Amino acid sequence: MSGTIESTMHEMRVFPPPQDKAARLSSMQQYQALQQRFVDDFSGTWGELATQHISWRKPFSTVLDESDAPFYKWFADGQLNVSENCLDRHVAAGLGERTAIIWEGEPGEVRHISYAELLGQVCRAANAMRALGIGKGDRVVIYMPMIPEAAMAMLACTRIGATHSVVFGAFSSKALHERIEDAGAKMVITADGAWRRGAVSTLKPGVDAALASGCATIEHVMVVRRGGNAVDWVDGRDVDWQQALAAQPDVCEPLAVEAEHPLFILYTSGSTGTAKGIVHATGGYLLWARLTMQWVFDFRPQSDVFWCTADIGWITGHTYSVYGPLACGGTTLMYEGVPTFPDPGRIWKICRDHGVTVFYTAPTAIRALIKAGDAWPAKYDLSKFRILGTVGEPINPQAWMWYHDVIGGGRCPVVDTWWQTETGGHMIAPLPFATATKPGSATFPLPGVFAEVVDMEGVPVEHGQGGLLVVTRPWPSMLRGIWGDEARYRRTYWQKFEGRYYFAGDGAHKDDDGYYWIMGRVDDVLNVSGHRLGTMEIESALASHPAVAEAAVVGRPDEIKGEAICVFVVLKQDETEGLRTALRNHVAAEIGPIAKPDDIRFADKLPKTRSGKIMRRLLRDIAAGREITQDMTTLEDLKVIEQLQGKG
Ligand code: WT7
Repeated sequence: MSGTIESTMHEMRVFPPPQDKAARLSSMQQYQALQQRFVDDFSGTWGELATQHISWRKPFSTVLDESDAPFYKWFADGQLNVSENCLDRHVAAGLGERTAIIWEGEPGEVRHISYAELLGQVCRAANAMRALGIGKGDRVVIYMPMIPEAAMAMLACTRIGATHSVVFGAFSSKALHERIEDAGAKMVITADGAWRRGAVSTLKPGVDAALASGCATIEHVMVVRRGGNAVDWVDGRDVDWQQALAAQPDVCEPLAVEAEHPLFILYTSGSTGTAKGIVHATGGYLLWARLTMQWVFDFRPQSDVFWCTADIGWITGHTYSVYGPLACGGTTLMYEGVPTFPDPGRIWKICRDHGVTVFYTAPTAIRALIKAGDAWPAKYDLSKFRILGTVGEPINPQAWMWYHDVIGGGRCPVVDTWWQTETGGHMIAPLPFATATKPGSATFPLPGVFAEVVDMEGVPVEHGQGGLLVVTRPWPSMLRGIWGDEARYRRTYWQKFEGRYYFAGDGAHKDDDGYYWIMGRVDDVLNVSGHRLGTMEIESALASHPAVAEAAVVGRPDEIKGEAICVFVVLKQDETEGLRTALRNHVAAEIGPIAKPDDIRFADKLPKTRSGKIMRRLLRDIAAGREITQDMTTLEDLKVIEQLQGKG
């Protein structure tokens, strides 16, 4: 845990919510009344919301099945189709001409895709996939840049009951390979390339490399033409997306699937081992994506333009770039490129040009934009903003205040949303027109969410005391498991409190007013620029380099990234010129550029306990340049520490 608790304990500023009677939830009384309905009739209330907000092909008769906990099932005997809920339903309601997706390419071209057009394209893609042998339950890996075809590919999977697994386009071919293997995917959908920082970056070679060995389950690779660059082609395996879609009709009957059918798998880092495939189910996920859009963003589909800056490779992009806004029938914005290209005003220019009303980004981006200077946002009229959101890591009060004052003009509520890949959607967040906010606090659990801060025994701690954040009752968009690893699912999330509570892996405290303050991970997971990285993954990547005998990875506080990656390395050989760069590049090739170490320190050995465990707390202190508080017993230890501190 970083220094967040000290800096937030004494935060006294409170911002009352703006009054807006048109808001879906416009007072704390309404929030409390709704939460009380869940207390009084948990499944009845969920059942009512699910009936109201989702179009079911076959209605459900049971809401929550706890008989096989922690494998909870929601609306299990109901049937639905996600693409039908996100598209056909709105077209049938006469909204076919409404813009579903506004897309801006990095070079500046703009596409407005209506609901009717999106439906047609999704149907063509679904037909094309079916013609290539994809059917219900097959896994399809999507390795794509931020182009509308990425959303089309996701929705096309849902139309025919295929389970997608989006892999972030900046992950290495090795990471892609591991995910394809783990998911047993039958198809990869990718693009020839995309625009990044003024040049076309490639994706297809990464796929070719990933498939060069193993991945025997892959039958086809669909390739969207975007970058215009030449790509190697494997005849019989590779299929041109545009050509395949053009050959198909624009109608495709949506397949009704069971509510518990796996909608997608999304890989995320854990504290041990390789990335884990978080499984989300169809019905509960879609319900929560829609409800949180309405509650937390007060989304008004007829007038709002919503922009979530996350890449679809992350859960934020799944729920709030694609499924949430589309399930509501509103307009979502997608941007292809680097947010600071060609200058740090690009984000604000996009917001102005497209009239963005609700804007959602990460604290790391806010901090980088603060550094770029207030002159950039000042150049653009941002008066259309209604609500500003943040996600991914604790937001420091200074960044919150800047967002509120400089970007929101002091008028827009700031919603700091705490959630995880595993939770599917927001869990702890303010309601913009009901909750008084405090800079740095995610405020309260949403209606239907029951969270607590507890000690190691599961007993709620006193207000002001630090503890572990847990969710005490199941919720519809909860993960359904880890793909192919039941034991790891039980162990990671449920073992700590013997199945009673979901263990989130975060530290938190509540203040005297009951506000939740999230303090960061309590496990060996780093949060670098809002991206989750396991220290073990980076350690194994380093250990696979021939010069490395042993490596330990810890986080240290960083002004922009939140956490920076600091690695301590014991070499098998003497340090050679360029070795630091070589190690950084090696980690990038193994995992992806986001995992590149910020600091690399060499030493003769790593500090360990008598039982041989690496003393990580000590390494964290050294990395942060903090005073060493641990007892050092031997002189040998002291020598190592001086080396690691750079004094050796
Ligand atoms: C971890 C989940 C949820 C989408 C993005 C990240 C941290 C997330 C907040 C917040 C403090 C936050 C937690 C959490 N986190 N949002 N508002 N305040 N911390 O998803 O990659 O699954 O990471 O991000 O540590 O456990 P993820």
